[in-house]
Amino acid sequence: LKILFIASEVEGLIKTGGLADVAYALPKTLISLGHDVRIVMPAYETTKTHWESWPSTQLHLELSAFYDCEISFRAGQHDSIPTIAIEHPTFKRLGIYDDGQHGYDDNILRFSILSKAALHYAKSEQWQPDIVHGNDWQSAMAMFYLAEHFKGDDFFKDTRSVLTLHNAAYQGHAQAHWHQTVGIHERFYQQEDFEDHGQINLLKGALSFADTVSTVSPGYAAELITPEGGHGLHFKFSALPQLTGILNGCDYSQWDPEQDSHLNHHYATPTDPGKSANKANLQKELGLEESSETPLLVAICRLTDQKGIHLLIPMLWNLLQFSKCQVAILGSGDKKLADELDRLQHRYPDQVRFINGYNVGLSHRMEAGGDAFLMPSIFEPCGLNQIYSLRYGTLPLVRSTGGLKDSVTPLSAAQRNVKSATGFCFEEPTEQALLKETMRLLNVYHEKPMLWQQMQTNAMAQRFLWSKSVKHYIKMYCDTLAKPKRSHP
Ligand code: ADP
Ligand code: GLC
Repeated sequence: LKILFIASEVEGLIKTGGLADVAYALPKTLISLGHDVRIVMPAYETTKTHWESWPSTQLHLELSAFYDCEISFRAGQHDSIPTIAIEHPTFKRLGIYDDGQHGYDDNILRFSILSKAALHYAKSEQWQPDIVHGNDWQSAMAMFYLAEHFKGDDFFKDTRSVLTLHNAAYQGHAQAHWHQTVGIHERFYQQEDFEDHGQINLLKGALSFADTVSTVSPGYAAELITPEGGHGLHFKFSALPQLTGILNGCDYSQWDPEQDSHLNHHYATPTDPGKSANKANLQKELGLEESSETPLLVAICRLTDQKGIHLLIPMLWNLLQFSKCQVAILGSGDKKLADELDRLQHRYPDQVRFINGYNVGLSHRMEAGGDAFLMPSIFEPCGLNQIYSLRYGTLPLVRSTGGLKDSVTPLSAAQRNVKSATGFCFEEPTEQALLKETMRLLNVYHEKPMLWQQMQTNAMAQRFLWSKSVKHYIKMYCDTLAKPKRSHP
């Protein structure tokens, strides 16, 4: 199949979260199976060293009668994946979506340019995609442009569109006046499509036009159609002809304790000396007491309410009053949450480390050196860190939601599933429920080392292979191609 894959971030080039991991691993796996995939992404200033030597072609782009511009596309390879970087002055900024504080006002324009340029690129190269695969709100407009602006264009007559939702909480809102600029006709600037309480909502609108919509776990797909889990769009999600949930895979060439290049000590089983050596190294690196018996709880995430940090912080204030455990948190984002974590570290300097920043090497060392991984997300479309944690024998404690629920097998209350349990799980999004489960985890750690070890063995044996997830993607592409184009409802 020919797949035009549009993404705003790609691992190895630019990344703010798991979307980048997927936008790299999914195309790579599809290519390994013989499919013809091309990634289209913005030519960000910060990734210049990668694309500036790629040959450039100029194109005239018209978004509407009110807006046109010159863009160039640079075609090259990123780790052997054909990659097209779209150059436009609005991508020449330091941030990718924001200036560090606020989202750019013209994000709608920037990502409409990306979406339309991707289609123009294919046409100008006479490279006819079977599937245009968009990801999240940033490439959602490609669904609309394909269905409406290229309606009746022979070149795309057999092309279908797929939109994958990695995080439906981010919808791409913009002020109403933009709709003319980006070519959203009045008849689609309606409550059924792009209009949302007086603003434009790109994701909402795109849901009316994508031939197929998918998301990154079956659990999240089921939540999206409920009023509680639909981020205000459950009525749109439930009106879709279908909403497929495909669990992300893990790139084990990067996340494997047996050969992780970020580690000094490798290990294949939880009892290998490598696991405890990584723990000792991490404690040393973070300036914590080197103690093999003291449980070390780790967390790595964007600091946002999605990740349940606002539950984690009060829970830790409570727990640390009586527990001697160590806690290491790596994350960046919300300043208020970062300040609160600083305060916690200040109060418990011997037990808590908060590393405010983005550090790939450290994230690997924390996965390897921790005993348990805390991920109390309020919602989680898929989540990758719990999947990495399983492979590293660092038992995940997760909230029972979305992809977390689909990837972690919780130790049951009666502890009867010893042979299959891979982690700990709590339901209610409250500090108390999180505390209770953390205490249960610590109890197993201290009192039942054999059970702990068995769970580590179970966890490390789990595999979330991209080669498996990709089969579901291929089936979804083929099913989409077998159907007539979706007509606007
Ligand atoms: P999300 O995409 O919602 O942020 P995921 O769990 O899917 O959550 O993916 C997060 C990805 O970003 C993982 O690869 C994780 O290791 C990485 N990551 C998040 N925060 C940091 C950080 N502060 N330093 C290094 N890597 C991070
Ligand atoms: C999003 C989600 C995360 C998911 C990732 C990749 O950022 O928040 O749960 O794993 O995308 O699909």
